[in-house]
Amino acid sequence: MLSLKSKWPGRDDLNGKDRRRVEAVTAPASGFEKPEAFEVMQGGAGTSTKIVNRDAFSQSGANLTFAEEEQFKLGNALFRKLWVSTPASTKASDGLGPLFNARACQSCHLKDGRGHPPEGDSDATSMFLRLARGPVTEEERRELETFVRPNFPDPVYGGQLQDLAVPGLKAEGHMAITYENEPVTLGDGTVVNLRRPVYSAEDLAYGPLDEHTTLSPRIAPPMIGLGLVQAIHPADILKNADPADKDGDGISGKPAIVRDANGDLVLGRFGWKAQNPTVRQQSAGAFAGDIGISTPDVPNSHGDCTAAQADCLAMPVGVQKNLGDSEAPDPVLELVTFYSENLAVPARRDAAGKEVLRGKELFYGIGCASCHAPKYVTSRKAENPAHRFQLIWPYSDFLLHDMGDGLADGQPVGVADGREWRTPPLWGIGLTGTVSGHTFLLHDGRARNLTEAILWHGGEAQPARDGFSQLDKKDRDALIAFLESL
Ligand code: HEC
Ligand code: HEC
Repeated sequence: MLSLKSKWPGRDDLNGKDRRRVEAVTAPASGFEKPEAFEVMQGGAGTSTKIVNRDAFSQSGANLTFAEEEQFKLGNALFRKLWVSTPASTKASDGLGPLFNARACQSCHLKDGRGHPPEGDSDATSMFLRLARGPVTEEERRELETFVRPNFPDPVYGGQLQDLAVPGLKAEGHMAITYENEPVTLGDGTVVNLRRPVYSAEDLAYGPLDEHTTLSPRIAPPMIGLGLVQAIHPADILKNADPADKDGDGISGKPAIVRDANGDLVLGRFGWKAQNPTVRQQSAGAFAGDIGISTPDVPNSHGDCTAAQADCLAMPVGVQKNLGDSEAPDPVLELVTFYSENLAVPARRDAAGKEVLRGKELFYGIGCASCHAPKYVTSRKAENPAHRFQLIWPYSDFLLHDMGDGLADGQPVGVADGREWRTPPLWGIGLTGTVSGHTFLLHDGRARNLTEAILWHGGEAQPARDGFSQLDKKDRDALIAFLESL
């Protein structure tokens, strides 16, 4: 924390005049009679204003150049590409696994939208269990403290449970979920039934899990606006951090500290625990862990096989020396990253509606905006000109918060303990049903709609959650109408 704040004490990309402009436009909303200027264009100049349908999350940023559009299309093809096992006749597509959860990025990030828990006939493809434990030895403690490693994988199963494997190899096992009904009574007597999930790893093919290994269920988050999130100046995120709650508002907010590809200490922003600093690092990790494909950044072609899985390590890999040292040599990762960074955020709908504006007022009034920080102006130094100096409205502080026992998974990740989660951005959340055909929310999809998602908030968010549950039906509906308009 200290080291990051001294690295980025303030914005180093703005002159005095710019700084005053930025402060003025990012000040909290003061009136709720009409929308704020540019609020509708929640993803800045790149916002998609196309017709809203199932493809609403799959549009490229509206301010990309023609050449970048082409790059985006190539990236899209690779994002959808189905990888196959080695040996195969289609040499350029092999290398899958040996262990994997899915054969393509798109299998989990379907329509670039949100994953879901297995429901009815659907399988668990777009959701998996991360396996990890905290440090046990002195050396592990040192590795954690110096941010060399965020936690420690299961000695046999590795960092996640892969429920698929190439022919000739056993899959690791399956995630099983049971739900317990949990009725909650709101202030006006309305009863809402929440479902509390219980997770286990079943059909384990390589013996039991280590006794210290914890299970962290994760669904795939939506893919929109990620380049813009990356372009937020670190000083603007650190400004909201208050890990010791010095201002006494009950909300701390811890920045995730991680190492980037060069080994430098930077802010984590991506993933449900903000464990990754860049879209590229997250994508290289996904290639290796989710699909079992090596890239120049994560050159391990056996993916998540561990030393204890000798039969896994004995499987052939898909590297072709004439193309490079990994199964997906350059420019695959580069193009997939570019695609992932440039999916447009859709424009707001009905931002001027009376009920929506009332909901927005309540969102500020009951303290949702304390974590779901509305707006930023991105850095002038962002790598891609399309992401520079954009007024954006992600509704997140990108910090870690204690969300209480209800949401705790007990799995530490870097500075995040087993109760802490990153505030997720809320832009596009009202289109979840349109794009993904479901409205399962939160890190594991346990909430079946927005109301349930709010009622699961605990810990630092307990007062805001209680504020919501005390509203009358008309105001609750207004708050939901506001979220639906994002
Ligand atoms: C098996 C399902 C699955 C596959 C396949 C998959 N992802 Fe993901 N993706 C996830 C999950 C789950 C998360 C959340 C991870 C976490 O919090 O640990 C995620 C997170 C991400 C994020 C961060 C988003 C954010 O808002 O923080 C990016 C970027 C991403 N994936 C890109 C990719 C790319 C690129 C590929 C293909 C190389 C891919 N993913 C393949 C499930 C998947
Ligand atoms: C203390 C910080 C904090 C406050 C205050 C807070 N939230 Fe959240 N919110 C979070 C975090 C962290 C998550 C992710 C929790 C998880 O997935 O387990 C979240 C998740 C959500 C989600 C689901 C997002 C998704 O992508 O699945 C919605 C919707 C939401 N919050 C709305 C609200 C509303 C409305 C309020 C005010 C009543 C509120 N939040 C107050 C931190 C907060």
